Amino acid sequence: MSEINEAAGQQEYVYEPFAETPEYLQVNREIIRGWIDTIVRESDRQVRMLVDVACGVGTMVQLFLENLPTGWMKPEVMLVDMSATAITQASERVRPHVAGLDSICGKIQEVELPKDRYDVVLWGNGIHYLSEEEQLAALNRLRPTLRDGGWLLFNSAFTAESRPDDTIPFYRAQIARAVRYLQSIGVKRERVEAPPNSSRFLPAEHYAELLKQVGFTVQEVRSVAARLYQTAWEHISGFAQYAAGALHGYREDLASTAMRLAVAPAIEQYGERDPENRPYVTRNWLATMARVGR
Ligand SMILES: C[S@@+](CC[C@H](N)C(=O)[O-])C[C@H]1O[C@@H](n2cnc3c(N)ncnc32)[C@H](O)[C@@H]1O
Repeated sequence: MSEINEAAGQQEYVYEPFAETPEYLQVNREIIRGWIDTIVRESDRQVRMLVDVACGVGTMVQLFLENLPTGWMKPEVMLVDMSATAITQASERVRPHVAGLDSICGKIQEVELPKDRYDVVLWGNGIHYLSEEEQLAALNRLRPTLRDGGWLLFNSAFTAESRPDDTIPFYRAQIARAVRYLQSIGVKRERVEAPPNSSRFLPAEHYAELLKQVGFTVQEVRSVAARLYQTAWEHISGFAQYAAGALHGYREDLASTAMRLAVAPAIEQYGERDPENRPYVTRNWLATMARVGR
Protein backbone atom coordinates (compact mmCIF):
# COMPACT_ATOMS: atom_id res chain seq x y z
CA MET A 1 0.00 0.00 0.00
CA SER A 2 2.96 2.31 0.22
CA GLU A 3 6.49 3.00 -0.86
CA ILE A 4 8.89 4.87 1.30
CA ASN A 5 11.29 7.24 -0.36
CA GLU A 6 13.45 9.92 1.06
CA ALA A 7 12.40 13.30 -0.27
CA ALA A 8 14.00 16.48 1.01
CA GLY A 9 15.19 14.61 4.07
CA GLN A 10 11.63 13.65 4.95
CA GLN A 11 10.10 10.20 4.76
CA GLU A 12 7.33 10.35 2.21
CA TYR A 13 4.93 7.64 1.38
CA VAL A 14 2.49 6.88 -1.34
CA TYR A 15 -0.59 4.97 -0.39
CA GLU A 16 -2.25 3.54 -3.41
CA PRO A 17 -2.21 -0.10 -4.52
CA PHE A 18 -4.06 -1.35 -1.42
CA ALA A 19 -6.46 1.62 -1.48
CA GLU A 20 -7.41 0.69 -5.05
CA THR A 21 -8.26 -2.96 -4.34
CA PRO A 22 -11.94 -3.91 -4.76
CA GLU A 23 -12.10 -5.15 -1.17
CA TYR A 24 -10.83 -1.85 0.26
CA LEU A 25 -13.15 0.24 -1.87
CA GLN A 26 -16.13 -1.97 -1.05
CA VAL A 27 -15.74 -1.94 2.72
CA ASN A 28 -15.04 1.78 2.86
CA ARG A 29 -17.93 2.54 0.49
CA GLU A 30 -20.29 0.53 2.68
CA ILE A 31 -19.12 2.39 5.79
CA ILE A 32 -19.44 5.79 4.13
CA ARG A 33 -22.92 5.05 2.79
CA GLY A 34 -24.00 4.13 6.32
CA TRP A 35 -22.54 7.38 7.67
CA ILE A 36 -24.24 9.47 5.00
CA ASP A 37 -27.60 7.76 5.62
CA THR A 38 -27.35 8.71 9.29
CA ILE A 39 -26.30 12.28 8.51
CA VAL A 40 -29.23 12.70 6.11
CA ARG A 41 -31.62 11.26 8.68
CA GLU A 42 -30.32 13.17 11.71
CA SER A 43 -29.16 16.52 10.32
CA ASP A 44 -31.14 19.57 9.35
CA ARG A 45 -28.47 20.83 6.96
CA GLN A 46 -26.28 19.69 4.08
CA VAL A 47 -22.57 18.98 4.37
CA ARG A 48 -21.06 22.21 3.06
CA MET A 49 -17.61 22.13 4.67
CA LEU A 50 -15.57 18.95 5.11
CA VAL A 51 -12.06 18.11 6.37
CA ASP A 52 -10.42 14.88 5.18
CA VAL A 53 -7.83 13.99 7.81
CA ALA A 54 -4.94 11.71 6.78
CA CYS A 55 -6.39 11.95 3.29
CA GLY A 56 -3.83 9.67 1.63
CA VAL A 57 -4.63 9.64 -2.08
CA GLY A 58 -8.16 10.94 -1.39
CA THR A 59 -10.01 7.63 -1.49
CA MET A 60 -12.30 8.40 1.44
CA VAL A 61 -13.31 11.90 0.40
CA GLN A 62 -13.94 10.69 -3.14
CA LEU A 63 -16.22 7.91 -1.85
CA PHE A 64 -17.95 10.46 0.37
CA LEU A 65 -18.56 12.87 -2.53
CA GLU A 66 -19.81 10.06 -4.81
CA ASN A 67 -22.38 8.97 -2.25
CA LEU A 68 -23.89 12.30 -1.21
CA PRO A 69 -27.63 12.49 -1.98
CA THR A 70 -28.58 13.73 -5.44
CA GLY A 71 -29.40 17.42 -5.25
CA TRP A 72 -26.95 18.18 -2.43
CA MET A 73 -24.42 20.92 -3.17
CA LYS A 74 -20.77 20.04 -3.57
CA PRO A 75 -18.92 20.80 -0.31
CA GLU A 76 -15.73 22.78 0.18
CA VAL A 77 -12.95 20.42 1.21
CA MET A 78 -9.81 20.77 3.33
CA LEU A 79 -7.22 18.00 2.92
CA VAL A 80 -4.78 17.26 5.74
CA ASP A 81 -1.92 14.76 5.58
CA MET A 82 1.65 14.68 6.82
CA SER A 83 2.77 13.47 3.39
CA ALA A 84 3.15 16.18 0.72
CA THR A 85 2.95 13.49 -1.97
CA ALA A 86 -0.39 12.31 -0.64
CA ILE A 87 -1.77 15.88 -0.60
CA THR A 88 -0.72 16.43 -4.21
CA GLN A 89 -2.31 13.20 -5.41
CA ALA A 90 -5.51 13.72 -3.41
CA SER A 91 -5.83 17.34 -4.61
CA GLU A 92 -5.66 16.33 -8.27
CA ARG A 93 -8.28 13.67 -7.71
CA VAL A 94 -10.72 15.73 -5.68
CA ARG A 95 -10.45 19.23 -7.21
CA PRO A 96 -12.95 18.68 -10.10
CA HIS A 97 -15.63 17.47 -7.70
CA VAL A 98 -15.70 20.13 -4.97
CA ALA A 99 -16.86 23.73 -4.49
CA GLY A 100 -13.47 24.73 -3.10
CA LEU A 101 -10.25 23.01 -2.08
CA ASP A 102 -7.60 23.79 0.49
CA SER A 103 -4.89 21.68 2.09
CA ILE A 104 -2.48 21.54 4.99
CA CYS A 105 0.59 19.33 5.04
CA GLY A 106 1.31 18.43 8.64
CA LYS A 107 0.58 16.11 11.51
CA ILE A 108 -3.03 16.29 12.54
CA GLN A 109 -2.13 16.54 16.21
CA GLU A 110 -0.17 19.73 15.42
CA VAL A 111 -2.14 21.60 12.74
CA GLU A 112 -4.24 24.73 13.32
CA LEU A 113 -7.77 24.57 11.96
CA PRO A 114 -10.34 27.39 12.12
CA LYS A 115 -12.97 27.27 14.86
CA ASP A 116 -16.67 26.42 14.22
CA ARG A 117 -16.06 25.90 10.53
CA TYR A 118 -16.78 22.33 9.41
CA ASP A 119 -19.85 20.10 9.19
CA VAL A 120 -17.85 16.87 8.85
CA VAL A 121 -14.38 15.68 9.82
CA LEU A 122 -13.61 12.46 7.96
CA TRP A 123 -10.63 10.44 9.24
CA GLY A 124 -10.31 7.24 7.25
CA ASN A 125 -7.95 4.42 8.12
CA GLY A 126 -5.48 6.60 9.97
CA ILE A 127 -6.22 7.08 13.68
CA HIS A 128 -4.28 3.93 14.64
CA TYR A 129 -0.98 5.45 13.42
CA LEU A 130 -1.05 7.83 16.40
CA SER A 131 -0.12 7.05 19.99
CA GLU A 132 -2.88 7.43 22.58
CA GLU A 133 -1.48 10.86 23.57
CA GLU A 134 -1.36 11.96 19.94
CA GLN A 135 -4.93 10.75 19.37
CA LEU A 136 -6.09 12.83 22.32
CA ALA A 137 -4.18 15.89 21.05
CA ALA A 138 -5.62 15.42 17.54
CA LEU A 139 -9.22 15.06 18.74
CA ASN A 140 -8.79 18.12 20.95
CA ARG A 141 -7.87 20.06 17.80
CA LEU A 142 -10.65 18.57 15.70
CA ARG A 143 -13.56 19.09 18.06
CA PRO A 144 -13.47 22.93 18.02
CA THR A 145 -13.24 23.02 14.23
CA LEU A 146 -16.65 21.38 14.00
CA ARG A 147 -19.81 23.46 14.11
CA ASP A 148 -22.48 22.58 16.64
CA GLY A 149 -24.11 19.37 15.40
CA GLY A 150 -21.04 18.57 13.25
CA TRP A 151 -19.83 15.03 12.73
CA LEU A 152 -16.54 13.22 13.31
CA LEU A 153 -16.38 10.05 11.21
CA PHE A 154 -13.50 7.61 11.48
CA ASN A 155 -12.72 3.99 10.76
CA SER A 156 -9.89 1.58 11.39
CA ALA A 157 -9.05 -2.05 10.65
CA PHE A 158 -6.38 -1.98 13.35
CA THR A 159 -8.40 -2.49 16.53
CA ALA A 160 -8.49 -5.37 19.01
CA GLU A 161 -11.63 -6.61 17.26
CA SER A 162 -10.21 -6.37 13.72
CA ARG A 163 -8.64 -9.83 13.64
CA PRO A 164 -11.15 -12.54 14.57
CA ASP A 165 -9.64 -15.37 16.67
CA ASP A 166 -9.96 -17.90 13.87
CA THR A 167 -7.84 -15.71 11.56
CA ILE A 168 -4.84 -15.52 13.93
CA PRO A 169 -3.23 -18.72 12.50
CA PHE A 170 -2.99 -16.91 9.13
CA TYR A 171 -1.04 -14.01 10.65
CA ARG A 172 1.21 -16.36 12.63
CA ALA A 173 1.96 -18.50 9.57
CA GLN A 174 2.71 -15.42 7.46
CA ILE A 175 5.14 -14.02 10.02
CA ALA A 176 6.85 -17.39 10.58
CA ARG A 177 7.37 -17.82 6.84
CA ALA A 178 8.57 -14.26 6.42
CA VAL A 179 11.14 -14.73 9.22
CA ARG A 180 12.31 -18.02 7.68
CA TYR A 181 12.72 -16.28 4.32
CA LEU A 182 14.77 -13.47 5.89
CA GLN A 183 16.97 -16.00 7.70
CA SER A 184 17.44 -17.95 4.46
CA ILE A 185 18.93 -14.87 2.79
CA GLY A 186 21.09 -14.09 5.83
CA VAL A 187 19.08 -11.12 7.15
CA LYS A 188 19.09 -10.65 10.93
CA ARG A 189 16.92 -8.53 13.17
CA GLU A 190 18.76 -5.22 13.38
CA ARG A 191 17.07 -3.28 16.12
CA VAL A 192 14.84 -4.05 19.01
CA GLU A 193 12.63 -1.04 19.36
CA ALA A 194 9.05 -0.33 20.30
CA PRO A 195 6.61 -1.56 17.63
CA PRO A 196 4.70 1.14 15.74
CA ASN A 197 1.38 2.41 17.13
CA SER A 198 -0.61 0.58 14.46
CA SER A 199 0.42 -2.79 15.88
CA ARG A 200 -1.08 -2.01 19.30
CA PHE A 201 -4.62 -2.89 18.16
CA LEU A 202 -6.46 -0.73 20.70
CA PRO A 203 -10.02 -1.89 21.49
CA ALA A 204 -13.20 -0.17 20.29
CA GLU A 205 -13.83 0.77 23.92
CA HIS A 206 -10.64 2.86 23.97
CA TYR A 207 -11.94 4.98 21.08
CA ALA A 208 -15.38 5.42 22.66
CA GLU A 209 -13.77 6.56 25.94
CA LEU A 210 -11.42 8.93 24.12
CA LEU A 211 -14.31 10.57 22.28
CA LYS A 212 -16.23 11.08 25.49
CA GLN A 213 -13.14 12.50 27.20
CA VAL A 214 -12.83 15.13 24.45
CA GLY A 215 -16.51 16.01 24.72
CA PHE A 216 -17.98 14.28 21.67
CA THR A 217 -21.29 12.45 21.79
CA VAL A 218 -20.76 8.94 20.42
CA GLN A 219 -23.52 8.40 17.89
CA GLU A 220 -22.75 5.00 16.41
CA VAL A 221 -20.06 2.31 16.59
CA ARG A 222 -20.25 -0.44 13.97
CA SER A 223 -18.10 -3.35 12.94
CA VAL A 224 -18.03 -4.10 9.21
CA ALA A 225 -16.43 -7.34 8.04
CA ALA A 226 -14.47 -7.55 4.79
CA ARG A 227 -13.11 -10.57 2.99
CA LEU A 228 -9.56 -9.81 1.93
CA TYR A 229 -8.14 -12.01 -0.83
CA GLN A 230 -4.53 -12.80 -1.71
CA THR A 231 -3.78 -9.75 -3.87
CA ALA A 232 -5.11 -7.34 -1.25
CA TRP A 233 -2.97 -9.05 1.41
CA GLU A 234 0.06 -8.80 -0.86
CA HIS A 235 -0.52 -5.07 -1.31
CA ILE A 236 -1.01 -4.36 2.37
CA SER A 237 1.92 -6.60 3.32
CA GLY A 238 4.13 -4.72 0.87
CA PHE A 239 3.24 -1.49 2.69
CA ALA A 240 6.35 -0.71 4.73
CA GLN A 241 4.45 0.51 7.80
CA TYR A 242 2.28 -2.60 7.89
CA ALA A 243 5.25 -4.91 7.47
CA ALA A 244 7.20 -2.98 10.10
CA GLY A 245 4.32 -3.46 12.54
CA ALA A 246 4.20 -7.20 11.98
CA LEU A 247 7.96 -7.78 11.73
CA HIS A 248 9.53 -4.94 13.64
CA GLY A 249 13.29 -4.78 13.99
CA TYR A 250 14.03 -5.73 10.37
CA ARG A 251 14.92 -3.33 7.59
CA GLU A 252 11.53 -2.10 6.34
CA ASP A 253 12.04 -2.87 2.66
CA LEU A 254 13.21 -6.40 3.43
CA ALA A 255 10.36 -6.94 5.89
CA SER A 256 7.89 -5.82 3.18
CA THR A 257 9.30 -8.23 0.61
CA ALA A 258 9.31 -11.12 3.09
CA MET A 259 5.75 -10.40 4.25
CA ARG A 260 4.51 -10.16 0.67
CA LEU A 261 6.10 -13.44 -0.36
CA ALA A 262 4.63 -15.17 2.71
CA VAL A 263 1.00 -14.31 1.85
CA ALA A 264 0.35 -17.04 -0.74
CA PRO A 265 1.38 -20.05 1.36
CA ALA A 266 -0.21 -18.67 4.55
CA ILE A 267 -3.57 -17.87 2.93
CA GLU A 268 -3.57 -21.19 1.07
CA GLN A 269 -3.15 -23.02 4.37
CA TYR A 270 -5.26 -20.93 6.74
CA GLY A 271 -7.68 -18.85 4.63
CA GLU A 272 -11.41 -19.49 4.62
CA ARG A 273 -12.88 -20.48 1.23
CA ASP A 274 -15.55 -18.71 -0.77
CA PRO A 275 -18.03 -20.65 -2.98
CA GLU A 276 -15.46 -20.52 -5.80
CA ASN A 277 -12.88 -22.05 -3.47
CA ARG A 278 -10.80 -18.88 -3.39
CA PRO A 279 -9.09 -18.34 -0.03
CA TYR A 280 -9.69 -15.16 1.94
CA VAL A 281 -9.13 -13.82 5.45
CA THR A 282 -11.81 -11.79 7.21
CA ARG A 283 -10.82 -8.41 8.64
CA ASN A 284 -13.19 -6.24 10.69
CA TRP A 285 -13.36 -2.47 10.26
CA LEU A 286 -14.47 -0.35 13.22
CA ALA A 287 -16.65 2.51 11.97
CA THR A 288 -17.41 5.31 14.44
CA MET A 289 -19.66 8.37 14.24
CA ALA A 290 -19.42 11.04 16.91
CA ARG A 291 -21.04 14.41 17.14
CA VAL A 292 -20.48 17.82 18.69
CA GLY A 293 -23.38 18.84 20.93
CA ARG A 294 -26.86 17.24 20.51
C1 LIG B 1 -3.52 4.27 5.49
S1 LIG B 1 -3.51 5.87 4.81
C2 LIG B 1 -5.25 6.28 4.74
C3 LIG B 1 -5.60 7.18 3.61
C4 LIG B 1 -7.08 7.49 3.42
N1 LIG B 1 -7.61 8.28 4.51
C5 LIG B 1 -7.90 6.23 3.27
O1 LIG B 1 -8.65 5.89 4.18
O2 LIG B 1 -7.78 5.57 2.24
C6 LIG B 1 -2.96 6.78 6.20
C7 LIG B 1 -2.56 8.20 5.90
O3 LIG B 1 -2.36 8.84 7.15
C8 LIG B 1 -1.33 9.78 7.03
N2 LIG B 1 -0.89 10.05 8.40
C9 LIG B 1 -0.38 9.17 9.29
N3 LIG B 1 -0.18 9.78 10.47
C10 LIG B 1 -0.58 11.07 10.31
C11 LIG B 1 -0.62 12.20 11.18
N4 LIG B 1 -0.20 12.13 12.43
N5 LIG B 1 -1.11 13.37 10.69
C12 LIG B 1 -1.52 13.46 9.39
N6 LIG B 1 -1.49 12.42 8.53
C13 LIG B 1 -1.04 11.24 8.98
C14 LIG B 1 -0.34 9.11 6.12
O4 LIG B 1 0.53 10.03 5.51
C15 LIG B 1 -1.26 8.37 5.14
O5 LIG B 1 -1.48 9.13 3.99
